[in-house]
Amino acid sequence: MVKIEFRPDPLAQLSTSALVAYCFEDAPASSGTVERLPAETRNLLQQMQTAGELTGKAFECTLLPWPAGMAASKLLVVGAGKREKFNEMHFRHLAGTAVRYLRSRGVRELAWILGSTEPGAVAAVVDGALVADYDADRYRTERNGEKGIDNFLLATGGEALPAEAEAVLHRGRILGEAQNFTRELVNEPSNYLTPTRLAERAGEMAKRFALTCEVLGPQEIQDLKMGAFWAVAQGSNEPARLIVVRYSPEDAPEQPVIGLIGKGITFDSGGISIKPSENMHEQKTDMAGAATMLGVMQAITQLKPRVRVMAVIPATENMPSGNAFKPGDVITSMSGKTIEILNTDAEGRLVLADALTYAKRLGCTVLIDAATLTGACMIALGAITTGVFGWNKEWVNRVLAAANAAGEKMWQLPVDDDYRELYKSLIADLANSGGRYGAAITGAMFVGEFAGDTPWVHLDIAGTRWANDEKPYRAKGPTGHGVRTLVQLLTDLSA
Ligand code: BES
Ligand code: MN
Ligand code: ZN
Repeated sequence: MVKIEFRPDPLAQLSTSALVAYCFEDAPASSGTVERLPAETRNLLQQMQTAGELTGKAFECTLLPWPAGMAASKLLVVGAGKREKFNEMHFRHLAGTAVRYLRSRGVRELAWILGSTEPGAVAAVVDGALVADYDADRYRTERNGEKGIDNFLLATGGEALPAEAEAVLHRGRILGEAQNFTRELVNEPSNYLTPTRLAERAGEMAKRFALTCEVLGPQEIQDLKMGAFWAVAQGSNEPARLIVVRYSPEDAPEQPVIGLIGKGITFDSGGISIKPSENMHEQKTDMAGAATMLGVMQAITQLKPRVRVMAVIPATENMPSGNAFKPGDVITSMSGKTIEILNTDAEGRLVLADALTYAKRLGCTVLIDAATLTGACMIALGAITTGVFGWNKEWVNRVLAAANAAGEKMWQLPVDDDYRELYKSLIADLANSGGRYGAAITGAMFVGEFAGDTPWVHLDIAGTRWANDEKPYRAKGPTGHGVRTLVQLLTDLSA
């Protein structure tokens, strides 16, 4: 675990492996926290600027060993780019860049000079540092992920801290750790993270943080008449699990009860409507919605918002086999609605349908689901932006506002009665596929059919669950996208 603490020492006297400052493009040697360095150092940086060696361009890293007149062994200057474009989000990325740059060079301690002691900024620095200190290489015998940062110091240079500073640091740590927990789960191969193991991981987390966790197995899922969930689960040799994690603080009002429903397909082969083998390995991440909700639960049980929350996670594989459900089958969901299966690869909406019905039965008054639901959403919004869907304007807007505050990109796509035609069935109430056109919308609306009158928001994280590129501030691989937004939403509700 990374040790994170404030350090009040004057910057020149701060004895550390690496002191980190940042600067802007318009005046690299005299802006940002570079301005607060001793004159001798600034003169050297001025010369470097003149020589074109220091530009302040976004994420440029300039390392000075044994900076004159300073106790630190190294000085790292990180470019912050254009001042006009700078916002709180950048603190996250700059601190993250420093962490990744230094850890790759064997440095295990750094001192980040706080440019702002605003709560949002400090939390962003801490959260960004922890998110950056993660690599997805768990199964490599020589791991980068193990050569992480041991000590992350927040250097104030003697400036007074606001009273809530320690709490803010704590919040940043909680958010960073929650995202990394989610990423760790998303990254797990399906032979390690079976539905059974996912339930055990949920249980371990719940135990550690004093949440309650209940897990149902195949018999109970059938006894509850979850025909849609079971249709997907019946084809796999791995037993399905229905995971419920509850957070119910005594001081919270009785309502709302927020249901967080996470798609937990630990591997999606497509089933009988099998996927092409190219990129099929990526479907080990089809439980990212579940992982997101578990990350959120881990965070809120520590942040303690006064609101009741329940995570409901249907976990199974989607496999072809002699027992698998087949195109043309008609199944009866827990709600009583019948569904004609047109494509066994549209399995997410089936497991979510019954999970939504169950969440309502458990008393949830607001439903929010996160799911790697459609390739179409990924085509529409790429890996950058999560798709947001829902009929209830108030709750959709709350989620969008929380995303904005949390610095996660989310965008609303429409739901509209005219699309319902697309997933009508000749012989049953609904068909599980609406075809290729508008597939992110029809997929979302199918799920929404099971919310009924209960306010419901759907997050399609098929694109955002995974980053195919490495950034200076975060590794390639699972992102944890969505965790910060939902934690923000729940803490906003409490306020
Ligand atoms: N898990 C997939 C969606 C997905 C695709 C997630 C790529 C991440 C990356 C989902 O179960 C699926 O297969 N959706 C189908 C729905 C279609 C059959 C209506 C899709 O999007 O093609
Ligand atoms: Mn599928
Ligand atoms: Zn899927």
